[in-house]
Order: sequence, then structure tokens, then C-alpha cells
Amino acid sequence: MPFDLAARLAARRADNLYRQRPLLESPQGPEVVVDGQPLLAFCNNDYLGLANHPQVIEAWRAGALRWGVGGGASHLVIGHSSPHHALEEALADLTGRPRALLFTTGYMANLGAVTALVGQGDTVLEDRLNHASLLDAGLLSGARFNRYLHNDAQSLASRLEKATGNTLVVTDGVFSMDGDIADLPALAREAKAKGAWLMVDDAHGFGPLGAHGGGIVEHFGLSQDDVPVLVGTLGKAFGTAGAFVAGSEELIESLIQFARPYIYTTSQPPALACATLKSLELLRSEHWRREHLQVLIRQFRQGAEQIGLQLMDSFTPIQPILIGDAGRAMRLSQMLRERGLMVTAIRPPTVPAGSARLRVTLTAAHSEAQVQLLLNALAECFALLGPEPSHA
Ligand SMILES: Cc1ncc(COP(=O)(O)O)c(C=O)c1O
Repeated sequence: MPFDLAARLAARRADNLYRQRPLLESPQGPEVVVDGQPLLAFCNNDYLGLANHPQVIEAWRAGALRWGVGGGASHLVIGHSSPHHALEEALADLTGRPRALLFTTGYMANLGAVTALVGQGDTVLEDRLNHASLLDAGLLSGARFNRYLHNDAQSLASRLEKATGNTLVVTDGVFSMDGDIADLPALAREAKAKGAWLMVDDAHGFGPLGAHGGGIVEHFGLSQDDVPVLVGTLGKAFGTAGAFVAGSEELIESLIQFARPYIYTTSQPPALACATLKSLELLRSEHWRREHLQVLIRQFRQGAEQIGLQLMDSFTPIQPILIGDAGRAMRLSQMLRERGLMVTAIRPPTVPAGSARLRVTLTAAHSEAQVQLLLNALAECFALLGPEPSHA
């Protein structure tokens, strides 16, 4: 039967993969109200605690009074306003690149950059665990699309041997569901040796990583020559919304000419750019946010190891606990919720089959006492649930 949506939905439920949207009834932060219940949350990406910062809110308010609330048109028509331009210049300065280009979302920035740079006859090589927006971009580009083993420069090298045309190597900076970081020096070496370009989506690295919040590229001290295409998103550590691509003059001009998700969409509200300018200032100057985050990350990892939880190889604010079975991950998430804590269960297809997990994220807005509450609740829930039944 065509369009048998009921059957598809029923199958999704039966597999423990059905998604539901929790209703947030408070601003973003550690203490939230969800579906009427006050909860201590460890699942947003507001890593520096800026999404509800009074100065950022005030910048947005003042921006709305000065510039109105709507972008009004696409950037190429009459939607590119002074706050957008100022934000692009500030982002170019943050990344040490000649220019940066604002996009409305990270999904669109990835789609725009990849499809503008490669097409039929070209090659795009991606890490197996890249974010969905990067994988979709590769598939949509029309270029030959191939995935290499996770964070494996050797696996990339063997695929580069067979690449044809312009070749783009694409990776997450910080892997969004695992929290580990890409081995950028090795990937950049392989790409450069074959005349390929490396594109890094550092959605989760800007803010927490780098001495001044400049992300994974600053962390490794890499240049534009190593990473010609650098993407950042503004809805995570920046606390606002939108995204950018940073790079050479020619790269940015090419995106303005050829990136369809840039050209054919209304610009983001200028007042939002005003807010992001303020959050960028805080991100660069308030080092205590990064330092506090590192204290919490160490505290969480030590505590979780004592309980015997299976953590991943991550020193970033993304600290997933590997569970395996999707139903078990859902059950644990529910048990935490009954104890006043919110940690989302991440299941396939977002992560590979059999690798469901509780994705714990820490932010600079959390306190050490709150992290201890989480550890106590995790210890209790895992003890109550008992070991995973063997499938042998
Ligand atoms: C690695 C990565 N890239 C891109 C995006 C998409 O960014 P946006 O939410 O701005 O569309 C996300 C998640 O949202 C992400 O985790």
C-alpha cells in the first residue's frame, strides 16, 4: 500500500527508535522546566552558558530597536545589513582568516559549502561518523562520495589514491555524538599531499577548544593552508543561531556566487547578529568559562570511571555514556528523569546500530554540585537496572 505511514511509525515504535519532542517551558540552562517538570538538564549544546546571558539578551533587544526584527530579503538583494557585515568581520578575526560568510543555519552552511565546491567528476571523502548535514551535503553534491574509517588518516590516504577531479576531505572537528576530536594534523597532511582540500565543521569546538575559543584549528595551531574551509555554528557555544564559513577571499566570493543555500534564503534577523557579536566578545574574553568547563569535565570523568560507566575518548564537553541497546538507553534516560535529571538517549540512525548512548553534555553554567548530583543519580540508576543481559 503506498504511503503506509502508520506501518512505518509502528515499526519505528517497535524498534525503540520513535522520537518525541520534549516541550521546554523555560529558557535554556542547567535548570529547566520540561513538560511541566522542573529538571536539571545535561543535554544542551550551550557549552559556555551564553544562550540566556543578560548581556547577549540586551544586545538582541537593542539590535531589534535599532534594526527591526526581520532580515527582509536575501543577502544578495537587500538583506545584508551592517550587523551581519560586522559579525562576518569579527568571525574572520576570530578564525584568523581573510573573510567569513554568515549562513542561516549550520545545516545550510555545510550544504552550501560542499555543493559549491564539488560536483560531477569530483570526489568528496568523509569521516564515517560525520554529522548528517555533511553526509547529506556530500550525497547531494553529485561528486563521487566515499566514507573513510573514523578518524583514520590511513583509511583516508587509501581513498585519496583513487580520487578524481577536485577532491574535498570533510570532517567534524569535535564529533557531535562521541565527543572525540579529529586528528586534524594527520588528515591535513594526507589531504595536502594529494592536492585535496580539507573542510572542517567545528560546530562543537568553537568556544570550548583553543586558548581563545577559536576551536580545533586553534587547538592544533593549524593554518588556512592546512584547513582551507572552516565551518562554525552559532547555535551551540555562541548561544544564538546561525553559522559561518571562514576562508580565503576567493573561497568566500565563490560561496556568494555558487552556494545555493546562501543565495536563495532570507538573511537572519540583523538583531540576532548583534546578539552574536556580544556573545563572541564574551566567548573570547571570559576565559573562566573554558576553565570551569575543564574542571567539570575532569570531575565527571573521574566520578563516572569510579562508578564503572563506559565513557568515550573525549576531553570535550560532550561526554557520552555508551549503553548499546536502544531500549536500555531509553529506560535509563527515563529513570534519570524520574529523579529530576534530563539526559537524552541517542539512538540509531543518529549513531550506528548497537551503540545507543546517554549523551551527557556539560556547560560552563553547571556547578560542581550539579555534576555531583548527576553522578549520584547515574550510580543509582545503573545499580537498579543491573548489568546488561548477555546475548550469547
Ligand atoms: C557537527 C554539526 N554540524 C552542523 C550542525 C547543524 O548546525 P545548525 O543546528 O546550526 O543547523 C550540527 C547540529 O546542529 C552539528 O552537530
